[in-house]
Formats: sequence, structure tokens, C-alpha cells
Amino acid sequence: GAGQYGNLLISRPGPGVELITLNRPKALNALNSALFIELNEALKKADGDANVGAIVISGSDKAFAAGADIKEMRDKEYSDVYKNKFLENWTLMSTIRKPIIAAVSGYALGGGCELALMCDIILASPTAVFGQPEINLGVIPGGGGTQRLARIVGKSRAMELTLTGRNFSAVEAERWGVISRIIEPVEGKQKVVDEAIEMGKLIASKGQIAVQAGKEAVNAAYESTLAEGLKVERRLFYGLFATKDQKEGMAAFAEKRKPNFTHQ
Ligand code: HXC
Repeated sequence: GAGQYGNLLISRPGPGVELITLNRPKALNALNSALFIELNEALKKADGDANVGAIVISGSDKAFAAGADIKEMRDKEYSDVYKNKFLENWTLMSTIRKPIIAAVSGYALGGGCELALMCDIILASPTAVFGQPEINLGVIPGGGGTQRLARIVGKSRAMELTLTGRNFSAVEAERWGVISRIIEPVEGKQKVVDEAIEMGKLIASKGQIAVQAGKEAVNAAYESTLAEGLKVERRLFYGLFATKDQKEGMAAFAEKRKPNFTHQ
């Protein structure tokens, strides 16, 4: 529950939805090791909790996250970062089975942009500001930014963003396919987190084995050739015929009723 972590707020705002709010406001949610260790704990817990079907990660109105913590990094030496596997904390997220939705308002810069890119779905407020400004610090993105952006936005834009460090807007992010959509505020209040929670509730209402298989299949598109990805999809599809949820889902359709998925 709340108060368990120093840099995060955890809540269950709707059935099946775990909301993880980055909460280091004084540093615009800069991602230091302490925060990332907590985030990993929270993600592992949610992934292992049968009552959770989807995870939402958000920040504040001002910042989703303004990057890795520059003050923590500045004095590190090559031997430290190599031997101590700096950024090793950043690899756990890709092992989470449950869908993760990023609700981005304000700054999502550097590692903050990369954190959003590691999520499965990104929704953004019109105020969202994305970017990989690492070049201005004498480094390059290290949390997957060059690789994920190149796959999503293509070479020319990924190069431009990486080499100039310029920010990009929510409108550009939507046009380029970095995010699903922009969520407009209502009466001056950002609604992106509410919308992400609604999406999480919808996903959590489905058969969870199929949801996780769907995530695995889409991810295969980013990690394999088309032929291999199609095989992964086909095998997962076949496998779902061994689940009760497939029998229930198809029976419910034929009987003109709502399915009652038991996630088995
Ligand atoms: C440490 C940070 C920080 C960061 C902000 N702060 N970003 N501290 N690391 N990434 C701190 C500031 O030092 C300041 O602390 C407080 O948060 C408020 O920030 P301000 O700069 O005063 O706010 P503002 O003027 O509104 O400017 C907002 C901003 C700016 C444009 C987002 O803070 C900024 O440019 N931040 C750095 C963005 C960046 O370069 N990110 C990439 C980091 S490298 P005090 O104590 O002064 O109040 C990176 C590598 C990733 O992410 C690779 C590994 C995964």
C-alpha cells in the first residue's frame, strides 16, 4: 500500500489495475537507483499478484521523469559503471508479463523517455515533452532509446533526436507512432492517468492468459524476423486452445452472453 516506498505511490484505482506513480517531485522524478529498485519491486509484486491485470506508470503533471539522475551519474568512472553493471536495474521491466501503460504528462526526457518506451502502451497529455537530450551531457541514451526509437520512428528521426538532443512534442509523438494517442484535459485538469486506468480496467477484464500471450506476440515483432514472429504468434494462438478461457470466450459468443473469464 501507500507509504511503502520512498519514491513511489502505489494504488489500486480500479479492478485489476495497479497504479504506480513516480514520486520524487523535488527532482522532477529523476530516476536514481533507489527509485528504480523500488520500481522493480513494485513491478514484480504487481506481476505476481493474481488480482492485477494491468499496470499503469505515471509521474506528475510537470514530469513523467526528467531522466536518469544526472547528479548520481556525474562522478562515475568507466570501471564503476562496467563492474557494477550500472543500468542493470533497467532490464527487469522487459521481463514483466502483464501489460504496462505509461501515462505521460510533462517531461519525459532521457531515461524518462526510455522508461516510457519500455512500457507496452503510451498515452500522453498535450503537455508531454519527449526527448533524448543525453548528447548535451556528453553521452548518448543508455536505456534503449537509440534502439527503440530507431525501430519506431525510423532512422532519420532517431538520428536527429539522438544527435541534436532536441525535444519532441506530444503531437509529433502521436504522428510518429511513439504514443497511442493524446488525451485532452477536461476543465484544465489532465485526464491521461484516468484514461490509462480505464484502459487498464478494460485489459484486466479480458482473459489474462490471452492478454499475456498477446503482449508476448507483439513483442516478438520487435525482436525477430517476420517469419519467426509469425511462428511465435501461431504457437501462442494454438496454445490458447488449451485454456478454459478460449472455451468460455467462444461459448459465450455462440450463446449471445458475456464471457466470464477465469484466467485458466
Ligand atoms: C537530476 C534533475 C534532473 C535529472 C531535473 N533535476 N532533472 N536532477 N537528474 N535528470 C532537478 C534539478 O536539478 C532541480 O533540482 C530540480 O530537479 C528541478 O529542475 P529545474 O531544472 O530547476 O526545473 P526546470 O527549470 O523546470 O527545467 C526542467 C527540465 C530540466 C528542462 C526538465 O530540469 C532539465 O533539463 N533536466 C535534465 C533533463 C536531462 O538532461 N535528462 C537526461 C538525463 S541523462 P534543484 O536541486 O536545483 O532544485 C539520462 C541518461 C539515460 O537520462 C541513460 C540511462 C538510462
